[in-house]
Order: sequence, then structure tokens, then C-alpha cells
Amino acid sequence: MSVGTAANRHGAAASKALPPVAIVIFGGGGDLASRKLVPALYNLFLDGWLPDRFAVIGSDRKLLDDDAYRRHLREGVDAFSRRGRADDATWSTFAKHLGFLSLDFATASAAETLVKRLDATDTALGGQAIRVFYFAVPPNVTPTITARLGPALAGGAERVRIVAEKPFGRDLASARALTKTLTHVVTERQIYRIDHYLGKETVQNILAFRFANSLFEPIWNRRYIDHVQLTVAEDVGVEHRGGYYDSVGALRDMVQNHLLQLLCLIAMEPPLSFNADEIRNKKVDVLRAIRPIDPAHLAEVAIRGQYGAGVSEGPPVPGYREEPNVAPDSATETFAAVKFFVDNWRWEHVPFYVRTGKRLPAKASEISIQFHPAPHQMFPPAAIEHWQPNRLAIRVQPSEGILLRFQAKHPGPVMHLDPVDMLFSYAGAFRVPSPEAYETLLLDVMRGDATLFMRDDQVDAAWSVVTPMLDAWSAERPTDFPNYPAGTWGPEAADQLLRRDGRRWMLPTTLDPPEPAPPS
Ligand code: BG6
Repeated sequence: MSVGTAANRHGAAASKALPPVAIVIFGGGGDLASRKLVPALYNLFLDGWLPDRFAVIGSDRKLLDDDAYRRHLREGVDAFSRRGRADDATWSTFAKHLGFLSLDFATASAAETLVKRLDATDTALGGQAIRVFYFAVPPNVTPTITARLGPALAGGAERVRIVAEKPFGRDLASARALTKTLTHVVTERQIYRIDHYLGKETVQNILAFRFANSLFEPIWNRRYIDHVQLTVAEDVGVEHRGGYYDSVGALRDMVQNHLLQLLCLIAMEPPLSFNADEIRNKKVDVLRAIRPIDPAHLAEVAIRGQYGAGVSEGPPVPGYREEPNVAPDSATETFAAVKFFVDNWRWEHVPFYVRTGKRLPAKASEISIQFHPAPHQMFPPAAIEHWQPNRLAIRVQPSEGILLRFQAKHPGPVMHLDPVDMLFSYAGAFRVPSPEAYETLLLDVMRGDATLFMRDDQVDAAWSVVTPMLDAWSAERPTDFPNYPAGTWGPEAADQLLRRDGRRWMLPTTLDPPEPAPPS
């Protein structure tokens, strides 16, 4: 995590001073490389963050030559970069750093071919490059590749880094096995487990908001906070990823990683320093404090759903079971809502409600902190008919920012209160575009800063929270799937989950501007 911004020229100059870097992307012919990784590297290049001497080698079983690979990546940049189409001259300068290497790790010669290419890259870069091996492959392929990597790993912790994409395993046991496979060839310090939510500016800003300001910390506890809601809603369906998603589901895909990481940032104790291990220690404390869920009472705290056909943004869309590569009787959840408790002094009895789903009405990720009502209500009932509890909303996306909702007197001769918003918006305050999460994370790997990556004990603790739920759900087939139409906020049972507690899900504030009523 950089101490600075993308616009910080001193930071960029420091990056120039980085030693040469060679990034090998396993699965380099896949979607992640063309949609996210290479557009992110290209933007880092444009902003002057990459070292002068760098090489990116996409590796895959497919047979491509360097030129065909570069053309493929250019299409990805044009389609998916936050900056839109690449400029021809700049792209061709950048593209000189890109190459392709066809490798089939099922064959013993793969290791030798890789080492030869890396040695040649060192020569071309004029020094021993830092080697970043990016595993953009399904976790079941990782052991085969890792077993052959040995000779390419020479140079130890200072030189070699492994980046592991999510999903990191599919449950506690497989995540542990994966860590064991990796730590057989490198040390834990060399492993960078990606959770791209941690690279989002708004997510990093939670640390700044909480720990660089004294205003909110005194009220950041059970005495003032009634409950916390975390919503990560997507309007898209499973798209072209049915084959992957159908064996995964929302709990594994989103809750185990992104949502629990957001919860950690909200619930963690103040770190002593801005140090990777210190911050990760504080986060792991939260995961360990999450109250274990009793599988026998799972339905009281966790709800699953699957979308059926419906209407999303206009045209009718098919149900999940009709999506390509999804089983027609699939029991995979596309929606999950869970009530967690963090059993420690600060958060005793404060529920953290999290929900995520595909084909919900909008793409909106928001953390809402709802405060207790004022202890004594002195206003007459007519004045407070629109009263709402104080709410602090951290907008992760879209309209990134932080919003504080409180009551104000409506102008006019009668006392009438309406909720109003105080808004900090990134776009308005900083007037510089935010980098994509992968830009931040890739740069951190090159710099050797692991703050925003998941350490083995974090992954272990997160899977420990989620695995009993996964087991209980897979043991009992849902009988009501599909149970929410596309374009709605999930199954009715998710609403009941909060209603039982006398609460309700709050709409993300981007969809729910306060509408002051005219005074009577
Ligand atoms: C990924 C999930 O980790 O996050 C996807 O695998 C999901 O299913 C995506 O769509 C959401 O990320 P973002 O950044 O678009 O909110």
C-alpha cells in the first residue's frame, strides 16, 4: 500500500528506482490477464509507476506467438481499461515489454523452458529481475505448476514472489493444503494472496477514516452503534462464468473473502503502526472473534437464495438455472445473507448483517453503520414522522465516498425534521481518477508490500467461519430454489432475518437520496 497517491510524482520516481521486474502470468491467455491484469499494468506504465526495466510474460498451454498475444492483450486494454482505448504509439512502447511463453506443466521440460526464458529476460533487462509468479489459474492447477517451479525460484525471499488469485481453496482443508503446497517451495512472506477488494481506494480509505481522525473512534463501539450492514450487490448475473460459479456459490465467492475483509476493517482495533503484519494481526483478531455459527441453527442466521427469471434494467433475463454451463437443477446459491457477531468488548451484541447477490436491482457496495436513536425524543410526533436513525454510509462503489445522514429542521414556520446528507465524494474532493484495485495490488507486489494481501492465518480464520455453513448447506438441498426473481433484493427470508430483530435492510444511499417532504 503506497503512502501517497497515483498523482504523487515522488512516489512515481521511487517506483522508477525499483529493481527490474519480470512478471510471469500463469493462465496468461485467460480472462483475468486481459480484462484486469494487463490493463492495470498498462495504467501503471502510463502513470510512470512501473520500473524502467520490466517484462511481462504470459504463459499458457495455448500456442500463441508474441505478436498474437500482444494483439489479444491490446483488445483487452481497449475494452476494459478505465482509460478506454489505448493510444497506438504508447501501446507499442508498452507492448515491447510483453511476451508469450507456451508451457504445459504436465511435462517435465516446462521448468527448463521457463528458467531459460527467465534467464534470457534477466540478460535483456540488464540485471537479476525480481520474479513475480502470478497464478491466474484455478486452485487445482496450482500444485502441478508449483511442483515444477523449483529451479525458477532461485534467489529466495528478496527476489521471488508468488501471487495467488482467489479462490484460495474451496474450504478450510483445501486452503490449508494449498498453503502447504506453496510453502513447500517458498516462505509465507513470499506469498501474496489477492483479495481485490482490499485494493479498492474506498476500502483502503476505511483505515484512513477510522485511524487518522479522532472524531469517530470514540463512538465506534456498541454504546453508540446499533448495528452494521454490509451490502455488496451486483446487477449482473453469472455471465459467462457459469462453469466456475456453479461449483462455488455466493458464500465462497464473496462472503469468505471480500465481505469478511470489509467486516474486519470496520471491526478491527486500532493498529499500532502502518505495518503489514501489525494491520493483518488486528484483522485476524476480528476473524477469530466472530461467533461460530451453530449448523443446527443456521437458518436463524444465514439465508441463501438463487435468482429465477426476471427483469433487470429493462429486458427480461433468464434464471440462474438457465444460464450457460449451469446445471438445470443447480442448488448453488447466488445470494447469501448472514448475521455475524464479533464477540469482543467493543462489539458485544452488535449484529453485522452482510448480504451479497447476483441479479439484484443495482451494482452497489456499501457499508452502513447505524447509530442508536437519541436517548430521549423531545419532538412532537408530527415533527419526526420522517425521522431516521443516524447513519454513516461508506460507499465502496459506485459514487465512491462517505455519507453521514442526520436530522435537520425543514425550513418553515413549523418544527418538522427531515433526514439530510453530508457527503464526501472522492470525485469532488480529489479530482483525480482512482486507480483500479489491481493497479494498487500489482504495484504493492513489485514493492514487496504485503499489507493488502491475505496472510495464511487470515485465510484460515475466514474459512473457519464459513466452512461449517458451507457444509450445512451442502448437506441439505434447498427446496425453494429459485427463490427470488432477477432484479429484486433477494429472497423474502433475507428480509425476515432482519425483521425478526426489529430492523430492515437499508437501501444503498446511492439509490436512496433523502427526499424531504414539504412542510405541512
Ligand atoms: C469477484 C467474484 O471476486 O468479485 C465475482 O468472483 C464478482 O463473482 C466480483 O462479480 C465483483 O467485483 P467488483 O470489483 O466488480 O465488485
